[in-house]
Amino acid sequence: MKTIKPLNLKIIRSDLDHIAKARGIIVVLVTPEGALDPYARRVNKLTRGSLTRLISSKKFEEADSGQLFSIYFPERCAAEQICVVKIERRTSKLAARKVGVSIAKMKGSVEMLLALGNFPNLIELCKGIVLRDYKFDIYKADASSKSDGSTLITVMTKNPEFFNSQVPELVAIRDGVFLTRNLINEPSNILTTEEFASRLEELSKLGIKIEILDEDDLRNLGMNAFLGVGQGSSSPCKLVIMSWLGAADDDSLLTLVGKGVVFDTGGISLKPAGGMEDMTMDMGGAAVVAGVLATLAKRRSPSNVVGLVGLVENMPSGTAQRPGDIVKSMKGDTIEVINTDAEGRLVLCDVMWYAQERFKPSAIVDLATLTGAVIVSLGHENAGLFSNNDWLCNEVLKAANSENEGAWRMPLGKSYSKLLKSRLADIKNVGGRAAGSITAAAFLEKFVKPEIPWVHIDIAGVAQTKTESDHAPAGATGWGVMTLDTLVKNNFERG
Ligand code: BES
Ligand code: MN
Ligand code: ZN
Repeated sequence: MKTIKPLNLKIIRSDLDHIAKARGIIVVLVTPEGALDPYARRVNKLTRGSLTRLISSKKFEEADSGQLFSIYFPERCAAEQICVVKIERRTSKLAARKVGVSIAKMKGSVEMLLALGNFPNLIELCKGIVLRDYKFDIYKADASSKSDGSTLITVMTKNPEFFNSQVPELVAIRDGVFLTRNLINEPSNILTTEEFASRLEELSKLGIKIEILDEDDLRNLGMNAFLGVGQGSSSPCKLVIMSWLGAADDDSLLTLVGKGVVFDTGGISLKPAGGMEDMTMDMGGAAVVAGVLATLAKRRSPSNVVGLVGLVENMPSGTAQRPGDIVKSMKGDTIEVINTDAEGRLVLCDVMWYAQERFKPSAIVDLATLTGAVIVSLGHENAGLFSNNDWLCNEVLKAANSENEGAWRMPLGKSYSKLLKSRLADIKNVGGRAAGSITAAAFLEKFVKPEIPWVHIDIAGVAQTKTESDHAPAGATGWGVMTLDTLVKNNFERG
């Protein structure tokens, strides 16, 4: 199992004389006008004017803001590399984070000194570094022991006390995002429903209350839609409930629901072979919910948030659900299963109904790698948002925007939900080829009490990418952990 190594961050008070002695890479800033702060000036002096040459060059003039320049084996420095960032003194939070991402890509596993003076967004720059400094290489013989944040980063600042006060939150976010990525990257022979549940059980160490319902419990609750999806697999269905009650005297409660299909073959409506291996990530919604809970607990968020994840494997077998089967959901509505590959909604409808019945939440957000159709609509740039409530949806959009996680609202409406009419049952589980991600959302909407603000987030396109994304190398991105953490911070924290 991949463990998350502690962040190796050292914070020291500004000391110009440390520059010559620092090992590895030294990062300094230069403004687009070529202004040097005392640290850059010291580097310039030690290296007999290399920065002066750099800023008077055409290369520097033509470079975009945020670009890095490297000087290797600089004179009179113990360091092997100087990295000069061309950046304004005042930048947005996201521009600072982007610089951090570039630094992480450049640094490899070499130790580093950030000598950035009083750069105002130092913590965001560091966030960019630590989010990008991730590797999932436990199944490789030559796995480097120095990946993901285990190499030393020294931050030099005039105000170590202030910087230090921001570090716990940085660590909380990093650890939540990395937990999500680790779960998504894990193959399905390892991350079975049972293994997933036992990894979530470990979150109790953080003060999260964990409950695990097994198949007998689910049967007693009437969750036959959920159970039907898992009946062809030898991995049993599990419903894991993670409660972070950080504001016990507050009656607002957010519930997060995640699709946790540990592998989606399609079932009897079997998927084609090409690309089927990607379905190891079909538990991405559940992984994001777990990551958010971990972040909230690690930063001791004064909020009440309950995460519920339906863990199940969708397999074809002699006991598998058939196309045409009719199942009765916990809500009581019957569902005609036209296509066993539209399984996520069958899991979510029961878990969402249970969440509303038991917790009477003030809001509900579900996350799911629900449809290939959302990738056709929005590609890998944006998650699809669907909602019955403009306020909550706008808050999710705002949070996503501020964290540089793409999100785009899609429509719902009667004309879509009527596509789910079944000849035999109350509803069928697919609505045909057109508007596939919308009819999937419309299905879920039937299991949401109209008075409860709800946002459904289809993360099929963003949970995992084949090439690197803004904050992550290729593979699991951790999309959504920061968005939902920010949503909680902005709307569900006491006081
Ligand atoms: N897990 C898939 C959706 C998916 C596709 C996620 C690609 C990530 C990448 C989901 O269970 C599914 O199979 N959906 C079907 C629905 C269809 C049968 C109505 C789809 O999108 O094709
Ligand atoms: Mn499917
Ligand atoms: Zn699926």
